[in-house]
Amino acid sequence: MPKYRIAWMPGDGIGNDVMDAAEIILDKIALDAEYVPADIGWEFWCQEGDALPERTVETLKSCDCALFAAITSKPKEEAEAELCPELQGTGLVYRSPIVRLRQMFDLYTNLRPCKAFEGNPLNYRPGIDLVVFRENTQGLYAGVEFHPLPEAVRSTLETHSPRMAAFANVSSEDIAFSSRIFTREGCRRIVRSAFQYAREFGYPTVTVVEKPNVIRETSGLMVREARKVAEEFPGIELWETNIDAMAMWLIKNPEDYGVLVASNMFGDIISDLAAQLVGGLGFAASGNIGDDFAVFEPTHGSAPKYAGKHKVNPMAMLLATKMMLDWLGEKEHAQALEGAIAEVIAEGKVRTYDMGGSSTTLEVAEAVAAKL
Ligand code: NAI
Ligand code: MG
Repeated sequence: MPKYRIAWMPGDGIGNDVMDAAEIILDKIALDAEYVPADIGWEFWCQEGDALPERTVETLKSCDCALFAAITSKPKEEAEAELCPELQGTGLVYRSPIVRLRQMFDLYTNLRPCKAFEGNPLNYRPGIDLVVFRENTQGLYAGVEFHPLPEAVRSTLETHSPRMAAFANVSSEDIAFSSRIFTREGCRRIVRSAFQYAREFGYPTVTVVEKPNVIRETSGLMVREARKVAEEFPGIELWETNIDAMAMWLIKNPEDYGVLVASNMFGDIISDLAAQLVGGLGFAASGNIGDDFAVFEPTHGSAPKYAGKHKVNPMAMLLATKMMLDWLGEKEHAQALEGAIAEVIAEGKVRTYDMGGSSTTLEVAEAVAAKL
């Protein structure tokens, strides 16, 4: 039996193009693994009313981790309109399969390393090496929200928060309400993941990015827990920065920062900012990591206009593959892959269109494989 079972989820559009690239690399590495294809994405929503069919969930449960590329998703009304005729009007509601995966498998860490590889013409500046830890299951994206505001929720809020007085004259019909739920354990574990990573990979600082002066209870809990966790890691400094100021600092002096940690939405925003400093969508990879399962993916979408053209940059997918190797404990393979990626970028001969070149997705993968 192979050592690892890895779920293989290309998804939609260019997801397939970049997965072809990952296949070239994994073939070359000859990892002792079985790759198990799993259905995910738009066609399964249209045909079956579920973008993440139950059989895929079962496959995932039998695997060590998953490699996922990209899917198409559309707003509620459009999604309903594209359902096959038999499923129209049955009350099915489209829900993001990625968000569901994160919640179902408790993948509470979203890890986004953002490194400026030497010679990448898309780098904002040299020397940037940021690693964003985003809490992946709670906060604003947990989806506890209402419109209109139910009367029971409203009266409870009015009883417990004097600040609701500001909305006394607005009808419940005209109020949309989202909650931002943080748990103590949720804060602790994401901060602890960030510190552990800082220790393992030698980063001197961890910056907690919140807004406790305004969002006192939720951001406040995160920062208070961060201070406690920091005590377990002597030698690594905890910095505290507000989310808005952080956006400025990351443009002004991104080289000064290392590991960043934030709640779900702030982490989402800051990780896109950090990714753009080092090449944007063609370079942005992420790991969705829990205690015993993980899903690795490039963060770009299905880019329908490039689907099947083998034109897009596979680097994000290859960096996701590298992260997976690290997580599996295949440190040597992971380092070799990052080294090969770095060499190809530094040489500057094989580049996709976004880097100013005309190489194909697969030519880039072949060039990286050749260095392994
Ligand atoms: P997108 O990320 O698919 O593409 C936007 C543009 O970014 C592309 O047209 C292309 O110019 C560039 N781009 C993306 N990946 C690239 C790569 N690897 N190399 C070079 N250039 C690249 O975002 P868009 O167009 O907003 O969404 C398309 C579909 O993807 C939608 O259905 C959206 O919902 C979905 N989506 C899925 C995500 C996922 O699977 N994680 C994330 C973002 C969007
Ligand atoms: Mg995002």
